[in-house]
Amino acid sequence: MKRIGIMTSGGDSSGMNTAVRAIARAAMDAGLEAFGINYGYKGLVEGNIFNMNSLKDLDTIVNRGGTILYSARFPEFAERETQLKGIEQLKKFGIDALVVIGGDGSYHGAEKLTKLGFNSIGIPGTIDNDIPGTDFTIGFDTAVNVCVDALDRVTDTARSHQRHFVVEVMGRGAGDIALWAGVATAADAIVIPEREYDIKAIAEHLEENRKHGKDYGIIVIAEGVMSAADFKEQLDQYGDFDSRAITLAHVQRGGVPTAKDRVLAARLGDYAIKLLLEGKGGLAIGIKDNQLVAHDIIDTLENHKHHTDTTLLDLNDRLRFK
Ligand code: F6P
Repeated sequence: MKRIGIMTSGGDSSGMNTAVRAIARAAMDAGLEAFGINYGYKGLVEGNIFNMNSLKDLDTIVNRGGTILYSARFPEFAERETQLKGIEQLKKFGIDALVVIGGDGSYHGAEKLTKLGFNSIGIPGTIDNDIPGTDFTIGFDTAVNVCVDALDRVTDTARSHQRHFVVEVMGRGAGDIALWAGVATAADAIVIPEREYDIKAIAEHLEENRKHGKDYGIIVIAEGVMSAADFKEQLDQYGDFDSRAITLAHVQRGGVPTAKDRVLAARLGDYAIKLLLEGKGGLAIGIKDNQLVAHDIIDTLENHKHHTDTTLLDLNDRLRFK
């Protein structure tokens, strides 16, 4: 193995650059050449590929949000013909293995390349934390911290005006961001796709709070359940909460990565190269109980699911104002 390709794909997440730097550095240290692939699978098919060994200031990207390799959503990569075009480009540049940093869709691309015989490793990079085979994904911690900051601020104004806010956070089909941000900010209710919610019970809880002197409240809702606006509409049918609905949206995807995301990215990037040097591939790598782990990428996607830690919801219910 002489040359490896590095790609970021799907929704960007803070810490992707830290991973790009780690992969490239680890590859160079091992005497390999690192090639950056711009614009994800789209750029791969178009041959938008460049040699990274000449980059002088690679270390300066460790703290930059977004991805210097850009990203793109490219559903066309589900077609076999397009996958073969991608492999053709990789061969044209003499690339022997590919490391993809991304979410679910990106993993599926890497899985397809692996099935066609091209050695690919997936590194979990998404704010959603919804990838099987890992406890955490790169960018999740930063996104949660962005939400925590926003929720703290919203709580200030809610308290001042005796209002109730329904705050929608991202996560696609997963409730992890909502759970972590909700627990961290003592939300009055957290609504996630993994658990049925009872709107009447939530409204009664808010009314009870009022009776006991807490006349404001925060409900964190994961986008996978419904929009904040729709939830507010439902809530308003059960009482006058002077409610407001807000959506945190794409601010969750940007900003300086937290130390936790940076360290995770560094460890995973280095691990990917270690495995490739050992002749291994076709893997989804991640972190379980703080240990680096590698699983067959095909098996991971076909037979495993991400498990959201719903015990956090019970914890929040136990600890919230009563
Ligand atoms: O997967 C990351 C994510 O930010 C999800 O949380 C969200 O549902 C989606 O991407 C938004 O996609 P887009 O940036 O294409 O609007």
